[in-house]
Amino acid sequence: MNHPIPRDLTAPAWTAVGVARPHESAELHVLGQATYTDDIGEVHGTLHAALGLSSKAHAKILAIDLAPVRACPGVVAVYTAADIPGTNDCGPIIHDDPILAVDEVLYVGQPIFIVVADTHTNARRAARKANVTYEELPAILTPQQAKAAASYVLPPMQLVRGDVQAAFEKAPHVVKGELFVGGQEQFYLEGQIAYAIPKENRGLLVQCSTQHPSEMMHVVAHALGVHSHNVTVECRRMGGGFGGKESQSALWAAAASIAAVRTGRPVKLRADRDDDMMVTGKRHCFFYEYEVAYDDDGRIVGAKLDMTLRAGYSADLSGPVATRAVCHFDNAYYLSDVDIRAACGKTNTQSNTAFRGFGGPQGAIAIEYVIDEIARNLGRDALDIRRLNFYGKTERNETPYRQIVVDNVIGELTAELEQSSQYRARRAAIEAYNATSPVLKKGLALTPVKFGIAFNVTHLNQAGALVHVYVDGSVLVNHGGTEMGQGINTKVLQVVAHELGLNMVHVRASATDTSKVANTSATAASTGADLNGKAAQDAARQIRERLSAFAAKAYGGEAADVVFRNDIVHANGNDVAFPELVRMAYLARVQLWSDGFYATPGLHWDPKTMTGHPFSYYAYGAAVSEVVVDTLTGEWKLLRADALYDAGNSLNPAIDIGQVEGAFIQGMGWLTTEQLWWNGAGKLMTHAPSTYKIPGISDCPEDFRVRLFDNRNVEDSIHRSKATGEPPLLLPFSVFFAIRDAISSVGEHRVNPPLNAPATSEEILRAVDAVRAEVAKKMGTDPNFSATISSKMGSVPNFEATVGAAK
Ligand code: MTE
Ligand code: MOS
Repeated sequence: MNHPIPRDLTAPAWTAVGVARPHESAELHVLGQATYTDDIGEVHGTLHAALGLSSKAHAKILAIDLAPVRACPGVVAVYTAADIPGTNDCGPIIHDDPILAVDEVLYVGQPIFIVVADTHTNARRAARKANVTYEELPAILTPQQAKAAASYVLPPMQLVRGDVQAAFEKAPHVVKGELFVGGQEQFYLEGQIAYAIPKENRGLLVQCSTQHPSEMMHVVAHALGVHSHNVTVECRRMGGGFGGKESQSALWAAAASIAAVRTGRPVKLRADRDDDMMVTGKRHCFFYEYEVAYDDDGRIVGAKLDMTLRAGYSADLSGPVATRAVCHFDNAYYLSDVDIRAACGKTNTQSNTAFRGFGGPQGAIAIEYVIDEIARNLGRDALDIRRLNFYGKTERNETPYRQIVVDNVIGELTAELEQSSQYRARRAAIEAYNATSPVLKKGLALTPVKFGIAFNVTHLNQAGALVHVYVDGSVLVNHGGTEMGQGINTKVLQVVAHELGLNMVHVRASATDTSKVANTSATAASTGADLNGKAAQDAARQIRERLSAFAAKAYGGEAADVVFRNDIVHANGNDVAFPELVRMAYLARVQLWSDGFYATPGLHWDPKTMTGHPFSYYAYGAAVSEVVVDTLTGEWKLLRADALYDAGNSLNPAIDIGQVEGAFIQGMGWLTTEQLWWNGAGKLMTHAPSTYKIPGISDCPEDFRVRLFDNRNVEDSIHRSKATGEPPLLLPFSVFFAIRDAISSVGEHRVNPPLNAPATSEEILRAVDAVRAEVAKKMGTDPNFSATISSKMGSVPNFEATVGAAK
């Protein structure tokens, strides 16, 4: 890692931030010594739970016969909704989410009862033995069906600016169409798990793999009918969350807790992969209807977008996800007159939830799809149309939701990438290649990203931390964020080490724990390091100030002149080792620990009008992808990808580049191979890696060039860095549009391939056929069209010879 990162000149001279550091648990990960929830030593007497699931998409429960379950070997107890001591609900915002179904089931996989047994296997075996009598009811499965039936979990939302009707009337061109973009399973490597241990006097400790310990505490307390202070939730780390453990760890935490309190024994509930995928929600799939007006140059003058999300059977986080989709339809483009709608379709499927990007990717891909079509309709390179529509610096810089974009660097960033990736030269080379290659077709695309950082809901933008300096000079840091592999602990430790002038080895992070920092927000919306880094800095700064004052007293001089760097404290010409100063300060009864707090300034949001200043700043990026598609089989390969990402003054370029690479490949999986498929009865059939294809190492491009864009944050973020967790997930739009470009070459780029996501091989073949059919139709009916398209493109000439040559 030799990327130069400019120093923050306002920071103390010594620096632990802005430098590449390994993940604080890297060695433990590699050695298999990192403790995940299931690795925690089990307390004597621990029991294991499993959930009994609905086999119907929508039905009344007429009777439940649990006798065969109770009769199974090792079974200790079976609990239904009637056994829940408190409230039967785990919905994060709207309380429409029962922990266990009562009277009615709303999707295949919905939990109905909890079995507790001596072993994990005995519990799982017994969970299948119930006899449930159902009366089946009609089920709604797709967003289109939900829309037709006006079946919604929340009232539809709408953002309007300007006069869209007038814009359409004046405009010379309109593009109109439909698009479907599928959902995505989070596929965290560590599945959902909770381990609940009863403590004295109605206390409960819940070890849980969760992005949101405070929310788990609330849900468990409600389910048990106790106060929050009775429940402690702890999470050292997750083996990935990706949004899937923001709200949906709650079911598992609540079920384990109910069983633990009922049996009076520790209970562990660990989901099997198939159960995890059958029970929990995923990224929302979206159905779009769009109508966009543009002028002769390709400038968008009006846009109407109607999005319907597959929310599933309950609201969960669908409202905020839809809001973020609405606020990201603009992506990097100025849209003067818009009418953007989103409706959360209520369907008899898993309740969809957060997934990296949180609706942002789904909002932005729609405008990219449209721009791609405008470019083709005008016979222009899509990059030129994108650039023409970019936000301006001082004008054309107000988003549809009225926030002014003050930090726009998309023009410079794209120009740099266009150059470094040799976009134009490669475009020409691809055209030449395609002209002589009838079966294998190459495609190229450059797509930009602008992503708003902060929770749309203002009050969530707060964080707390606790920093302890022990008498030996070692430092323990606790903060409200959770570690899911993204490196938040490493970044927070760097911030604390930097404030105290210490090397990283002296600073350690402890597990996230609701009894240490209260009322935390989910580690989500990419804000984890931004918020908790600032809170930890606040705590460390208070300790440093106390130590400075003490050093000035001890050695003379001004407290403000005391310098902490590289494990040494410099005070009035004296050099004291940090532990020595700490020991002296302790003896002088100086407080050597502190809490810290941070609330992001300047945010506001009106959910009714969908306007305000919801984001603290924007992160930018762009990527260029080149693919080759086999138009006979639909197979394809990503040949090269170049990504440039704006991490501000990166706190840790090694971690940030890792985040960009990971998000790129994960987003590519979403848009290409990861297909969720429910059968006609509403059963998810792709519920294991055997049928659900996430990218493997062989799907990564051999030539993968990821770089960070130097760009000090104009906002006073932690050391002027920017978030990297989610925005890079939008970079592989370039892969999807490169595939569409390759398909489009089959019709000499004269017709728009109707390509939905994921662009699986079947979908690619469908689009190739559709392009050929459209070309044939137009050649038959439109003399202008046939005059401009060469005859060789409509079909594959000399089939055998070309296939042989191409392979
Ligand atoms: N990286 C890893 N390795 N594992 C994860 O689960 N989750 C992503 C992203 N990067 C995730 C990840 C999501 S959905 C978010 S919101 C951010 O990390 C959260 O962490 P941050 O706010 O600290 O960036
Ligand atoms: Mo990330 S989807 O905000 O957990």
